[in-house]
Amino acid sequence: AVRLRVREALGAREPVGEVQVQGWVRSVRSQKEVLFLHINDGSSLESLQVVADPSLENRDLTFGSAVEVQGKLVKSPHKMQNMELKAETIRVVGPCDTWSFPLKMKKHHPLEYVRQFPHLRCRSNTLGSLLRIRSEATAAIHSFFQDNGYVHIHTPIITSNDCEGAGELFQIETSNEARESAEKTHFFNVPAFLTVSGQLHLEVMAGAFTHVFTFGPTFRAENSQSRRHLAEFYMVEAELSFTKSLQDIMQVMEDLFKTATSTVLSKCPHDVELFHKYIAPAQYLKDYFFFFPSCRISYNEAVEILKQASQTFTFRPEWGCDLQTEHEKYLVKHCGEVPVFVINYPYDLKPFYMRDNEDGPQHTVSAVDLLVPGIGELCGGSLREERLPFLESRLQRLGLADAYQWYLDLRKFGSVPHGGFGMGFERYLQYILGVDNIKDVIPFPRFSHSCLL
Ligand code: 4AD
Ligand code: MG
Repeated sequence: AVRLRVREALGAREPVGEVQVQGWVRSVRSQKEVLFLHINDGSSLESLQVVADPSLENRDLTFGSAVEVQGKLVKSPHKMQNMELKAETIRVVGPCDTWSFPLKMKKHHPLEYVRQFPHLRCRSNTLGSLLRIRSEATAAIHSFFQDNGYVHIHTPIITSNDCEGAGELFQIETSNEARESAEKTHFFNVPAFLTVSGQLHLEVMAGAFTHVFTFGPTFRAENSQSRRHLAEFYMVEAELSFTKSLQDIMQVMEDLFKTATSTVLSKCPHDVELFHKYIAPAQYLKDYFFFFPSCRISYNEAVEILKQASQTFTFRPEWGCDLQTEHEKYLVKHCGEVPVFVINYPYDLKPFYMRDNEDGPQHTVSAVDLLVPGIGELCGGSLREERLPFLESRLQRLGLADAYQWYLDLRKFGSVPHGGFGMGFERYLQYILGVDNIKDVIPFPRFSHSCLL
């Protein structure tokens, strides 16, 4: 017998004589003359209908059980499906106690419910679709960069730099060091952390390759346990040499977004549709116009818009202060619920590596954040300070000049204007699918009562 995946069986053009399909039972319906099963193996949202003689029924053949079905793949008489499997044998490989199994047949389980079962939720339709989309989106992002001549760099996960300088670091030590924390000797001789961004390593590579990217796990010891923040998340980062302006960076953000999203929409239309039908409350998703038109404002303009707002904010908008979530939401609404690029942030708000705009009393750097409806910040990027004297004096003022000698070296040996950005992968998924809680777009939500933690 030919072993077929459910997806292949459903897509077959012609009947196939002897096939075997393996998977988990999604429904069982027993009638007097015929037994109907639906089998799912994770290859698609749709399950394969199996039609069998009632004599093949067996008390272990229940919702959730793992089965191996052998028979003939034939054209289905039903309009809703192309092919079905006429079973000759059905073997229950692994029974399932339906009474204690938290998922129930033909029931739509809300995301909050299945989140309680991190080890079982991948068997629900919604998480199944999410995980296929996540996989396709990962591949689409890699393809976008590879197709545009970027070199993929594996940047380190354990590092001693604090790229963002925001102190949201997880420090690494051996378990012995943790016990004897009084007199600290470091395994790596220096304090080591889980990376908060691969940017500085990409900047090293940008001195030899004009286009590089990385896409890996990133860690932040954030205070906020919000619906937009994770301690461990995935970030896509790109770095471009010989960049003339922020426009170059914004263009790549836009192209990446559009290309990856249209690939995902065409590769898994049914999976995406499930979200847009049952999960996404937001109107902007209905028309698949995720990106355009978009809007571009400066930080100065943003603060003016916020000051003139009739709405009162918890945090009063003030030049020099960070934009809060409530501010980001207001700006997106003000621009008509479209993506908004905010550029040129105050010098003192941003990390040391951002390029000085040298623009007078309201002194800014060439930074850009992309804000999107329903989420807030999706991407953050900047031009980097490529001029040695500027960088040197800024690092000196911050007391970082010694630690960053290697980084200053990059400005001594063939320095070029360059810049890049990072996009939060989970926030990207939340945005295109309309998922409110970031825990629902990761394979394993942290769960306090589980060793899966
Ligand atoms: O704006 P961020 O901090 O930018 C950087 O780290 C730059 N060094 C990137 C670069 O230029 N190469 O982070 C980039 C994006 C944010 O816009 C956000 O989407 C996401 O990463 N992000 C998080 N996503 C989930 N949970 C968190 N705790 C996140 N922190 C940032
Ligand atoms: Mg940011």
